[in-house]
Amino acid sequence: MGVADLTLNLTATQKQFMDSDADEVLFGGAAGGGKSYGQLADALVYALKYAGSRQLILRRTFPELEHSIIFTSMQMFPKEVAKYRATHHRWEFVNGSLIEFGYLAGEKDVLRYQGAEYDVVRFDELTHFTEGQYTYLLSRIRGVNPYPKQMKSSTNPGGIGHHWVKRRFIDGGMPNQVQTDESGMRRVFIPSFVQDNVFLMEADKTYQKRLELLPEEQRKALLYGQWDIFDGQVFAEWQNNPRGYQTRRFSHVIAPFEIPKEWRRFRTFDFGYAKPFAVSWFALDHDGRAYNYRELYGCSGEPDVGVRWTAQKIARAIREIEEREEKGRTICGYADPAIWNATGSNEGSIAEMMEKEGVYFEKGKNHRLAGKMQVHYRLSFDEEGLPMLYFFDTCKHMIRTLPQLRYDPVNPEDVDTRQEDHLYDAMKYFLMSDPIAPRESMVLPKREYHPLEEDLEYGRFAF
Ligand SMILES: Nc1ncnc2c1ncn2[C@@H]1O[C@H](COP(=O)(O)OP(=O)(O)OP(=O)(O)O)[C@@H](O)[C@H]1O
Ligand SMILES: [Mg+2]
Repeated sequence: MGVADLTLNLTATQKQFMDSDADEVLFGGAAGGGKSYGQLADALVYALKYAGSRQLILRRTFPELEHSIIFTSMQMFPKEVAKYRATHHRWEFVNGSLIEFGYLAGEKDVLRYQGAEYDVVRFDELTHFTEGQYTYLLSRIRGVNPYPKQMKSSTNPGGIGHHWVKRRFIDGGMPNQVQTDESGMRRVFIPSFVQDNVFLMEADKTYQKRLELLPEEQRKALLYGQWDIFDGQVFAEWQNNPRGYQTRRFSHVIAPFEIPKEWRRFRTFDFGYAKPFAVSWFALDHDGRAYNYRELYGCSGEPDVGVRWTAQKIARAIREIEEREEKGRTICGYADPAIWNATGSNEGSIAEMMEKEGVYFEKGKNHRLAGKMQVHYRLSFDEEGLPMLYFFDTCKHMIRTLPQLRYDPVNPEDVDTRQEDHLYDAMKYFLMSDPIAPRESMVLPKREYHPLEEDLEYGRFAF
């Protein structure tokens, strides 16, 4: 029996997951979307197609493996092609292929895989693992055979690894589109929704209802598969909704467009050396709506670690961008008032050093709570779904860090300043230069959840 004889009924997203040839694939989203089943189907097809291939499927603990994925594989894998060897935790195929099950409870457990080689490694529930465990296992994917080498993972949002998984796969890219990183690795995020899983929806008609009864945060993660969630989120009104990229409705993230010449432009700045520095450019339209259309973020590539540029170097980079992109336009700059403080060096304050390079700022108003309220007022949607603040989807770091901000546990009214809040801080200097009146934070219109309704403006598509 070969792949050709195998009949598997698969959901559309399971097929997408199986067809993806990216180096790192994440199948993620709502609970019950068929992710684990998709992993097994993919592993089975791969084992049959590539004789003598070796794959590893990982969960955090062995009991988790046993109760879920091993159990399902027993029902799914045809007995004439493979035998399960319980002592080795692996399926041995007649054609010589192997599918091994493994677990990584602690950080050091990766060492069990020292020296091992796999064609494909599969993490199930990736957010239960650390990035260190993941990258170690990436190094175990190798071999001299010509078979495709891939890391394929599946997960719900949430869990200890929520942030790194989100950063690696979800931020800064569109779902289902392959992104290539600096090292040439090709990554893709394939969302799954519980409604995709017709098998479950048919067999268990009340499953979705039970998910709807969960508390807000869990419901967002498990029913809608949203990634912009976690406890204590400051800007809970945040929506990054691909459906709104063009319509600009119910989404803060939109597709970039050419800014009309007559709109006023602004630049804001928060200095950082060991931590990232932040520069953002904003434009205001005739209705007073703000658009964050560009950013220059001094992040080393690791979150919240700065590139250690001097004030002069930052100023030169700003000047170059503006000479190239903003020829002849007036840009009004605002910055953290602290950059006017004496530095003790002969060069003077950071503001003075930057002025010498031809980059000027006015002192921003440093009022934390009023600034935070301005962000809330501007993010809230009106009846038509329009906010007063948008972000071009090219402002990747703002889009990554703003929804991640949490409340300070000691001062629960304010943002916890130990986080990566530099772009947020810089933005407040601009918003406080021309504060708007309070806008009623419009609660998103309550709607019945219709799984089959395709034109949902958000919810299903809001990850
Ligand atoms: N193609 C399919 N054919 C038949 N049954 C399927 C198929 N895909 C999924 N199922 C069944 O639907 C249920 C949910 O699927 P699965 O466990 O793969 O979802 P999941 O996304 O991994 O969920 P969770 O987030 O809870 O881990 C399971 O009972 C599974 O066996
Ligand atoms: Mg699963």
